[in-house]
Amino acid sequence: MPFITRRDLLSSSLALSASSLVGRSAWARSAALLQDAASEPSAAALLAVAPREQLLFDFGWKFTYGNLDDPSKDLGFGFGQSDFSKTGDFDFAKAGFNDSSWQSINLPHDWAVDLPFVHDDSGGQDNAMKSHGYKPLGRRYPETSVGWYRREFEIPASDAGRRIWVEFDGAVRDVLVFVNGCFIGRNDNSYAPFRFDLSDFLAYGAKNYLVVRADASFGDGWFYEGAGIYRHVWLTKTDPVHLGQWESVVRSAVSGGSATLALSTIVENHGKDPANAKVRWKILDAKGSTVATADAPEQSIPADGSSPYSATATVTNPALWSTDQPNLYTAIVTVKSDGQPRDAERVSFGIRTARFDAQKGFFLNGQPLKIQGTCNHQDHAGVGAALPDRLQAFRIGVLQAMGCNAVRTSHNMPTPEWVDACDRMGVMMMCETRQMSSNPGGIDQLTKMVKRYRNSPSIIIWSIGNEEFLLQSPMAEQGARIAADMVRRCHELDPTRVVSAAVNGDNEQGVSDALDIIGFNYNLKMPDAFHAKHPDRAVYGSETSSAIATRGEYATDPSRNTVSSYDGVVPWGESPEEWWTFYGTREWEAGGFAWTGFDYRGEPTPYGWPSINSQFGIVDMCGFPKDYFFYYKAWWGKEPSLHVFPHWNWHGREGDTIPVWVYSNCDEVDLLVNGKSLGRQKVPHLGHVQWNATYEPGAIEARGYRGGKVVLTDKRETTGPAATLRLTADRTEINADGEDIAILKVEALDKDGRLVPLADNLIAFTVSGPGRLIGVGNGDPNCLESDKAPKRSLFNGLAQVIIQATKHPGPIHIEAGKDGWNGGDLTSATILITAKPAEPRPSVPVPRES
Ligand code: GAL
Repeated sequence: MPFITRRDLLSSSLALSASSLVGRSAWARSAALLQDAASEPSAAALLAVAPREQLLFDFGWKFTYGNLDDPSKDLGFGFGQSDFSKTGDFDFAKAGFNDSSWQSINLPHDWAVDLPFVHDDSGGQDNAMKSHGYKPLGRRYPETSVGWYRREFEIPASDAGRRIWVEFDGAVRDVLVFVNGCFIGRNDNSYAPFRFDLSDFLAYGAKNYLVVRADASFGDGWFYEGAGIYRHVWLTKTDPVHLGQWESVVRSAVSGGSATLALSTIVENHGKDPANAKVRWKILDAKGSTVATADAPEQSIPADGSSPYSATATVTNPALWSTDQPNLYTAIVTVKSDGQPRDAERVSFGIRTARFDAQKGFFLNGQPLKIQGTCNHQDHAGVGAALPDRLQAFRIGVLQAMGCNAVRTSHNMPTPEWVDACDRMGVMMMCETRQMSSNPGGIDQLTKMVKRYRNSPSIIIWSIGNEEFLLQSPMAEQGARIAADMVRRCHELDPTRVVSAAVNGDNEQGVSDALDIIGFNYNLKMPDAFHAKHPDRAVYGSETSSAIATRGEYATDPSRNTVSSYDGVVPWGESPEEWWTFYGTREWEAGGFAWTGFDYRGEPTPYGWPSINSQFGIVDMCGFPKDYFFYYKAWWGKEPSLHVFPHWNWHGREGDTIPVWVYSNCDEVDLLVNGKSLGRQKVPHLGHVQWNATYEPGAIEARGYRGGKVVLTDKRETTGPAATLRLTADRTEINADGEDIAILKVEALDKDGRLVPLADNLIAFTVSGPGRLIGVGNGDPNCLESDKAPKRSLFNGLAQVIIQATKHPGPIHIEAGKDGWNGGDLTSATILITAKPAEPRPSVPVPRES
């Protein structure tokens, strides 16, 4: 097996290999993996070669706030003119600088989530504060808009001669990087990865100092983006002869029961002399068995030059990647020079076909498949934009549970672990870049996105942007040219996928001219006319719905900033039922992406303060379903489904009429109130059924019929007050690797064990053992409690706690409710999470770690 990379550890198929390597040092492991990748030469000879090491650089950082306006509060940075006048004069990035008063933190880190909420509505609709959820970021908040990160690390003397990069998966936003007193480089967008070659600047056999100044006063979007180094950082070391970053590509063509793989890569030579190098590919199936190999002959690569390599291989009877069976393959790409393996990497890929047809919609592996998609931003309750990897898979799992088979990474290049989760779990993706522009920055972001993810089978559409109104119409000519450049760049890097954009309004001109497939945002009146006029252009819904609801609320009440769960929708939007009866019934429509899967911080809609997040989600910030989740489950899912709402706790409203709705895919549904039928109703295709019931305490029960027989029932009962708490976890065993998490659900139950739908008790959490609480949430868009405190109010009966493992195995006990609750006799709940021994990912050693 080759190197353990970030992808490997996410891949269940590699769990075996990872555990079989437990106990060996990172060096020995890399050497063994490289040997296996190359099948030769002997282990002794291999140890003369430094294999690639990709070390996680997340642990053991120090952090402090700087200041945008006052250099004396910004480590003296920018005090005079001369900061950049010399290469190596930055004392804060040298030995001897005292960072002992700085906070100790691990990455990923989002400092915005720690900040208090501040009610600042100055600036009207374009208010930056409102956009990112009322966190004090921006030029008017100089004390909290700049963050400094510092990390001491050692580089062994034996690394001399290697190429050593620091690689950032993404950071918000204007980032300056310094090493050993020297300025190294900058980055100025929040989503594209960036890296710097540190080889010249490092001290070998000595301590080194890396400092990052992140300025989050500007944003890239109109939604919450977080602040700081919110994705992983890596220290990657290679031989001077090494594979180019994201240059290894596997393209498959399926025909007659076999797949031809077009394999290509680029080898770079940073050595002083020309190097003769050849490349070998080994193709492994999901079990790790070799199914094909291929070689590209030796070439001479000039010093400081690079050479392309290519070959083909055949996989017979390939296990195709699909949403039902997300089969993956791995290509191990090995470079050999002077008889020695120099570098290797593993590339995960899938074999599948994807095709858009203007008359018949979308086809995966030749089979028609409607895109049942959601758009999503990338933040989550408790942790903001800094998600542990496991949370990505959790979120994908929540969406899959309602039959969602595709996601749009609105409106930016996603985190690698989100793409990995989609690849592994079988969710398709429309992958979107942030800046729609053919300027150097825009093309750079696009290039990085396509290069980095072009082997991911989940991606079926590249998106060059969203709602660039200026380029759609007033500047349509320029828009057409800009889009054409971007489309051309995508095709050049990846001729296998279609390119699109999310266009709100007229698709007849501007950016749409160059697109392979046409995306409509909202505007349900437009696609029919467009299709009639352009029957040869494939069409889908790039952004639809914008329905709104507050989980567990059944009245739209501006005094409480709540939105009714029955049928809330913004004026420009469509209810789930409206948009899906449109897209779900036209064969030529490939499907669409609802705005949004998850609620997200910022862009609080439809209310402002004290709402700090949007209410567009089909699930809330924690992933707890709103009622219309079950609309999708009924019409997107494959199983019989039945969901009745609202709750039946209407104390004081006895005798009032309460609408009762049912989302179901049964033929017919009956509704019983305290055992009395209100009449069976046929369920309209892609619709719902509803009754007006007179409230009396007791129970409402829906009975779903198929073929005249009851196949499902669902019930809401009038409950008593909260009497006890229940804690459940997504997993009760996690890895003691310093990264893994358990996601806990907190519920309030009455004395008969029924969920109390309106419980709002403040719950306190205590954690003992080798785990730490890294975030809390409750899905309430109007909750201004801290995401980091060990306590949280329930919102309509529910809250969430995220517990992260340390690197020490053992039992983690979590107790909810012991202190601080405010609701009478509420019995506390406990849960045991076992952190089981696991080898942490190879990472840069932490000097001060005990
Ligand atoms: C769209 C936009 C999204 C979000 C949404 C709210 O126009 O693309 O980012 O703002 O509106 O309905």
